[in-house]
Formats: sequence, structure tokens, C-alpha cells
Amino acid sequence: MATTEFTPLEWREDGLALLDQTRLPGEETWLRPKRVEEVCDAIRRLAVRGAPAIGVAAAYGLVVALGDPDDPQGDLDARFGRAAELLLATRPTAVNLRWALEQGAEAWGLLHDLPRERAIAGLLDWARALHADDVERNRLMAEQGATLFAPGDRALTHCNAGALATGGIGTAVGVLGAAFRRGRLAQVWVDETRPLLQGARLTAWEMRRLGIPHRVVTDSMVGALMSRGLVDRVVVGSDRIAANGDVANKIGTYTVAVLAQRHGVPFYVAAPLSTVDPRTPTGADIPIEERASEEVTRLAGVRTAPEGSEGFNLAFDVTPAELVTAIVTEAGVHRPPYGPALARALGGPAGD
Ligand code: MRU
Repeated sequence: MATTEFTPLEWREDGLALLDQTRLPGEETWLRPKRVEEVCDAIRRLAVRGAPAIGVAAAYGLVVALGDPDDPQGDLDARFGRAAELLLATRPTAVNLRWALEQGAEAWGLLHDLPRERAIAGLLDWARALHADDVERNRLMAEQGATLFAPGDRALTHCNAGALATGGIGTAVGVLGAAFRRGRLAQVWVDETRPLLQGARLTAWEMRRLGIPHRVVTDSMVGALMSRGLVDRVVVGSDRIAANGDVANKIGTYTVAVLAQRHGVPFYVAAPLSTVDPRTPTGADIPIEERASEEVTRLAGVRTAPEGSEGFNLAFDVTPAELVTAIVTEAGVHRPPYGPALARALGGPAGD
């Protein structure tokens, strides 16, 4: 359904299909979850990942739950409520998950009195519409963001904020693709993004498919690249943007932002308004996921730290709004002060 060249998740005739991103770039394997627990497992172990894609997967996950083959005649309301709880508990930082589940609860409120099959079909229509809506937000964001670029630019991105992380063409990568097509981008520096290498494995895979010249660098090279004048702009995605414009994104983003400020490199964040959370006042209020220590003490499953050395694995960090040059959403390019700018974009009161 997505109008993109590739999509990491789709609803087929016989149900949900999720591209297992843990196997990329080596293998393109599709998961076919039949129970909500399997959708939750896919989200938790990052088979499906990236804030908007997690939201879309959760929406389809609700539909999967209603059609559970183990319990074909079970009470749908009870099943919906349990599925929403399970899905919400999978990952804490990406607010798109809660956003999608709250929209789902509203949709279900209007559907649940219908005959069983019609209610389930109605929820599937809703999930498909939410997916299509993400495609459109990505498209608009890419158009807006491309205007920030100039011919010859060399941009740096961190983690993967591309088609693999969304329902559409991506957020940061969508912007990069649009800039490239308009002749406003010469090259992309792709941070490898330790510990799980979303940059090296996934963003580089997307860059190849998009035909964008790129080079993969270790996260620790960013300062050296900038000090040599080799980076003209940074563009990243986000898992949650607080009401004041503080930005949570993949661990290491904050380091890139500090370096960008030091070297006078514009630092942009591209994210749909479904990532902006007016209920979270500042970055200090954003829940940060802590993942298994082994993801740090091992690389691709192979132990790299000595037996007995524990790791510490914060999956995200917060970049304060003052380090962000502009936030690009489907509603436009927003500049500081972000409090009123984001409130206006969300259609709420502009004061703060
Ligand atoms: O842990 P991940 O791979 O889900 O983290 C993803 C990111 O940090 C992305 O940059 C963010 O979700 C934006 S995706 C458009």
C-alpha cells in the first residue's frame, strides 16, 4: 500500500508481514505474526523499529489481536484492551506507539458494537488509514526539509530514520532523498550507530537503494569530520520531541549535536507531529529505554568485553532544544522558540 519503493511492514491478504530488520542487510526475511505477543516480540527485539514504524506496527498489532487463531470466539473488547496494554509496554521512548494506540482506542470505541466481522474489518481499515497517513506525513516532511539544503552539501545522519523506520519514505532519510533528487546533496556520512548498527546496517542499505553517494563512519569520527570541514548539515529523526523542543533520539545523537554546535554545523530534526508530545514538558520527562547490557559487551553476538565486565546500555539520549537549528514536520520548518512553534503546529494554544 505504501507509495514507497520498499516498506518494512504491510498488511497482506493473509495478515501482517514485518520485515525482520535484525537480519538486514544480509537477508530479507519477513515475519508473519498471527498473535499480538509475536508483534510485541518483534517490536521489543527491533525486528520492527523506528518511532513511526513502531506506531504503525502497533496499529496492525491490534488487528492481529482481534483475529487471534487460538481464541476465534473470544470477547473482542477484552482482547483489544489486553493487546493495547501489551503493545504499550514494549518500548517506552517512542511516543508514536502511545499515539497510535490512543487513536486505536478511539476508533474501536466507534466500532465495537458492530457485528464481529465488520468490527474487525473496520479496525483494519483504520490501521491502513493510519499507515497511509504516515506515508503522506513523510512525503510532506521531505518536501519541506529539502529546502534547507544547497548544492554540494555533505550531510551527516545518525541511526536509521528512513523507510525502514516509518510507513513511508522516512523522516531524515526522506529529507535526504528529496534534497538529492533536487541536486542539493552531494554525499551522506552515515554514522554506524553502536551498539546495534542501525546506521551501518540499515541507513547504508537504504542509501544504496536510493543511489545516494555515502560513506559509513564510526560514531567516534564525527568530531574529526566536522573539524576538517567535511560536514555541512546534520539531519536526524526523533522518538519523542518534548513540548519545549528537547529531542530524544538514538544514543549518540546528543554528542553529534554538541559537536555540530562547536563547529557551526546546522543540526536539523525531521519528525512527524505524531512524534511531538505536548504532554511531556521537557526532555527530562522523556522515559529513556535501557536495553540489555549484552548489546554493548558483544558485537553481532560475539563477546568483545571480558567475561564479568558489565555494560550499560541507554538506547536513547536527549538533545536540548537550544542545540537544534530547526525541526521539520509535515506542517513546515519550525524555528526556536519551539514551545510556541510546536503548539501552533499541533493546533493548540501558542503560548508557553
Ligand atoms: O532503537 P531504534 O532503532 O528503534 O531507534 C530508532 C531511532 O532512534 C530513530 O532515529 C527514530 O525512531 C526516528 S525514526 C524515523
